[in-house]
Amino acid sequence: MTFVQSAWDAASPEAGRILWLLRAFIVVLGAIYAVVVAALARALTRRERAQPSDAGLRRGLSVATGATVLLLFVILSVSVHATRELSDPPASRYFDVIGHQWWWEVRYVSPDPTERFATANEIHLPVGRPMKIVLESRDVIHSLWIPSLHGKTDLIPGLSNTTVLEADRPGVFRGQCAEFCGLQHAHMAIDVVAEREDAYQAWLAAQRRAAAAPGAAASVRGRLVFMSTTCATCHAVVGTEAGARLGPDLTHFGSRATIAAGTLPNTAEALGAWITEPQQFKPGTRMPATPLSGQAAADVAAYLEDLR
Ligand code: CUA
Repeated sequence: MTFVQSAWDAASPEAGRILWLLRAFIVVLGAIYAVVVAALARALTRRERAQPSDAGLRRGLSVATGATVLLLFVILSVSVHATRELSDPPASRYFDVIGHQWWWEVRYVSPDPTERFATANEIHLPVGRPMKIVLESRDVIHSLWIPSLHGKTDLIPGLSNTTVLEADRPGVFRGQCAEFCGLQHAHMAIDVVAEREDAYQAWLAAQRRAAAAPGAAASVRGRLVFMSTTCATCHAVVGTEAGARLGPDLTHFGSRATIAAGTLPNTAEALGAWITEPQQFKPGTRMPATPLSGQAAADVAAYLEDLR
């Protein structure tokens, strides 16, 4: 999978407009810079030191003032125009993104309670369908920024912000928290997986199901460890007795690409290490170390990786 995180690689109408604005600013401001540098170079290299007349000075000043006002007006107009196009009324609400130190909770909403589910650090979208998203925070101010899809929108405690996410081609678009939110701000990434409608519907159907019962012996042992240690006091696995909401929902953990908001790849090996020593990978993370034997940690990892 290729991961893209670049405002230059626009994959939605919104990002396209922002990119257009970025280019317009670079052209206009670059031209001003070139004119100023050329004038400075001319002034520095001119031989004669004749004093300009008062009339000449006045004329020069009014030309410079007029040009500045005109350029500022042009820049203001293009930004107002681009911003207006961005704040089009969004389509119906699909999911909420809730910021936590330092991970993203994603809650897919539906009038039908059996269709609601929660996931973390990964958003799935159908290509070509704009989705309205409600943004909230449980602790401090975070900011959702998926450069290929849209500009930044803050997640503010006690306030609901909205944004629109839309992708015009399939792909995985990486996003990042864009507001300094504490020790692990840099390890607060999110992946947006844009896929064709049928793949998206299949993903939705899978996510709506309760967790599968463990099959392999290691997974059965891992489930027992998970439910009887501190794991189940913070995490939820739908369909089991684990229903806590402090940490990410793990019902379909095995289907996700990364661990700890983009910090580690989602492999059994990395997960086993993460469970026993999370502070080693993400110092300050709210997840405490779980004192498990190597075998028990590997069993828990096997159980969670089977939750697909
Ligand atoms: Cu959350 Cu920076």
